[in-house]
Amino acid sequence: MQKEKLAALKEQYSTKIIDGNIISQNLREKVRIHTEKLLQEQQIQPGLAVVLVGDDQASAVYVRNKEKASKELGFYSEVHRLATSTPEQELLSLIQKLNQSPLIHGILVQLPLPKHIEEKNIINAIHPDKDVDGFHPISVGNMVIGQTTFLPCTPAGIVAMLKESQVVTTGREAVVIGRSLIVGKPMANLLIEKGSDATVTVCHSRTQDIKSHTLRADIVIAAIGKANFITADMIREGATVIDVGMNRDTDGTLCGDVDFANVVGKAGKITPVPGGVGPMTITMLMVNTFKSASGIWLV
Ligand code: GUN
Repeated sequence: MQKEKLAALKEQYSTKIIDGNIISQNLREKVRIHTEKLLQEQQIQPGLAVVLVGDDQASAVYVRNKEKASKELGFYSEVHRLATSTPEQELLSLIQKLNQSPLIHGILVQLPLPKHIEEKNIINAIHPDKDVDGFHPISVGNMVIGQTTFLPCTPAGIVAMLKESQVVTTGREAVVIGRSLIVGKPMANLLIEKGSDATVTVCHSRTQDIKSHTLRADIVIAAIGKANFITADMIREGATVIDVGMNRDTDGTLCGDVDFANVVGKAGKITPVPGGVGPMTITMLMVNTFKSASGIWLV
């Protein structure tokens, strides 16, 4: 959708919009203030290392935004940009260095990685104490058994957004579409945890009749990776719709998994793309890095 059209729809339906930029700004300001205090009182500066392998355009944008946010909050920031051809062993060596660096409290290796690198080997190599992405098996295990741990940033950001927007989840039907390790699976986990207490259905590419599930949902979380996949006929009147998608429309503009222009009228609350889930993902990365440095959870 063109920028102007999205802006007009956001204006028209302003009371329905869950604004990830505003929620993020408030939370980032909290992190910034606490970071200043941590530095003054304990001479600790949270440090985040981001590693990008290859020249994927979308990943390059995400990494730049992570670097920018780190700097704005007063973090120490390192970005390692490596060639697509980088051998797995070289990446593992870099991770070992970062694991041992006293300046670094959080390590993020941007996914996806080039095909010759085994993602699981890389994720497993990051020390769980610095696993601000929450992808290490120890972090995932802790999340599943409800122990305090680094939570994956996108689903944790969505939980924070729902809370901030006073969306009731307790006892409500939530339908997550997508079963990825980054979003779908942890999202389902967090929604059934105590505190969220939703009843959760997970749909995926092999689900028959996704619409029969989404039509029951009080909350739909779309993490499919297909432009405008969720149409108005799939959404119950008044449902909350969270769009995790980052796709290109037929006209080349950024769009989500939800056909925003048609769904916004029917939804009770909805996140736009851009300006919804995206900024929250980065904000939760900052929250996790701050926790790693200070021991303090700000969310
Ligand atoms: N690629 C898309 N989302 C993410 C994320 O949250 N973390 C990492 N490391 N890579 C991603």
